[in-house]
Amino acid sequence: MNKAIKLSIWVLVFGMLISSCSRSESKKSTPAGPITGYYQEQYRPRFHFSPEANWMNDPNGMVYFGGEYHLFYQYYPDSTVWGPMHWGHAVSTDLVSWKHLPVALYPDSLGYIFSGSAVIDSKNTSGLGSETDPAMIAIFTYHNPESEKAGSKTFQNQGIAFSTDKGRTWTKYSGNPVLKNPGIRDFRDPKVFWHDPTGRWIMILAVHDRVHLYSSPNLLNWTFESEFGKGMGAHGGVWECPDLFKLKVEGSDTSKWVMFVSINPGGPNGGSATQYFTGEFDGHKFVPENTNEKWVDWGRDNYAGVTWSNIPDTDNRRLFLGWMSNWDYATVVPTKVWRSAMTFPRELSLTTDNNQHFLSSKPVREIEKLREKSALIFSDPRTVTGEKVIHSDSLNLMQCELMFDFNLADSKYDSIGIILENSIHERLVIGYSSDKKQFFTDRSNAGNSNFSEKFGTVATAPYNAGNKLRIRLIVDAASAELFVDDGRLVMTNIVFPTEGFTVLKIFSTGGEVLIDHSEIYNLKSIWR
Ligand code: FRU
Repeated sequence: MNKAIKLSIWVLVFGMLISSCSRSESKKSTPAGPITGYYQEQYRPRFHFSPEANWMNDPNGMVYFGGEYHLFYQYYPDSTVWGPMHWGHAVSTDLVSWKHLPVALYPDSLGYIFSGSAVIDSKNTSGLGSETDPAMIAIFTYHNPESEKAGSKTFQNQGIAFSTDKGRTWTKYSGNPVLKNPGIRDFRDPKVFWHDPTGRWIMILAVHDRVHLYSSPNLLNWTFESEFGKGMGAHGGVWECPDLFKLKVEGSDTSKWVMFVSINPGGPNGGSATQYFTGEFDGHKFVPENTNEKWVDWGRDNYAGVTWSNIPDTDNRRLFLGWMSNWDYATVVPTKVWRSAMTFPRELSLTTDNNQHFLSSKPVREIEKLREKSALIFSDPRTVTGEKVIHSDSLNLMQCELMFDFNLADSKYDSIGIILENSIHERLVIGYSSDKKQFFTDRSNAGNSNFSEKFGTVATAPYNAGNKLRIRLIVDAASAELFVDDGRLVMTNIVFPTEGFTVLKIFSTGGEVLIDHSEIYNLKSIWR
């Protein structure tokens, strides 16, 4: 395109932006969602996974098999608050659309079915399937409430169940439990994977304030290998839902092992959160590179997340998903029919900085399938001072993906960022402060928060922005997932505006900021 034409288009678009300011502010807010229709209720996520009805917490048993991504989850089918735990079940062929399936695992005489994982026993090590028709095996914690009430310490034990019809029907193993509690109150959330170099299964288990590693030739008999975590990382609460996997270091031929450990309470912004360690694992022992905690996500609402097993080598992706809530207030958030949603699935990688390894996570590329044509794309630089409205009649701020590339080299400012606002001036503010060197998500005046005094807070995360800063935000009814610089920093927060957000603003305080490029997409609903 010739320069003069480019300039006039820029002037036109910029003029529209400025003149749209008053229009958008006076535009009538639409409700965050009418209370009718399938997946149309107020605060119902339109492209995130949530159960049709009732209570959900941790993702469980995430495994890929025969073209399907399985998502099991902690589920209480009789109420919108936590209760006797079952495993709910859903499948997806593309990580974007989900199909609900019947409850997979019900509590039995050994207890409730707490969190755990699933594997495909391709070599039929367990003898529960066959090599031609391998069993899907779920490894979970039995939590026995009677034994807990009676004052026993051994009320959590590990059990297994198997399915030979792609996870549709399940049989509990007759020899359960397969790993008995040695006398420790918190003994749960097994994550199991095949360790090729030693030719055995490895289980990582959360054990009060540390993790235990076990090995097994057949998923039925387990041997203690080692423990990790005493005095390492964050210890503001109990350790839960661990994971251990090998991950490629971007731009190199090497890989590192990454250990995830969820902790509740004790997260960096209060309540539940997930920390990680990088290091080496030889099939017996995990040796960390860092003994201080690093956080998978600095927002308040990404907990108990783990990764999918059995992703094909040809794809070679490490895919993650977490529970988009926080035990600080999960049971009282203002949704009526169901409670909680999962994060959007994310792809993980490692980056190197000063000889240390850091996790990056970004939405899986399949998100592009959800993008609608009505995008707003500005590829010419523009400056922002104060608060500037970005307007488009077709923009649905309650269901969108926003991307802004800031050029900080030529900018002088105190803080910059994005504001989502509704007609009654409730606003979610997400930004970066140059003097504090931190990102923040401020939901203190973003709508309904009186259900818990722990909710309406400002979450912060240390960050040292370079000359270029890329902000990517995914908004869906009641959540905002922020990915900074290709996922080097992530903040996931839920939010309950009284009316839907209709005004998008970019702000810069203390000077002007240059934006090189921006792209905005409406995202489609997956529920019909
Ligand atoms: C984490 C957790 C797990 C437990 C499950 C019970 O959110 O507390 O440790 O297995 O939830 O629902």
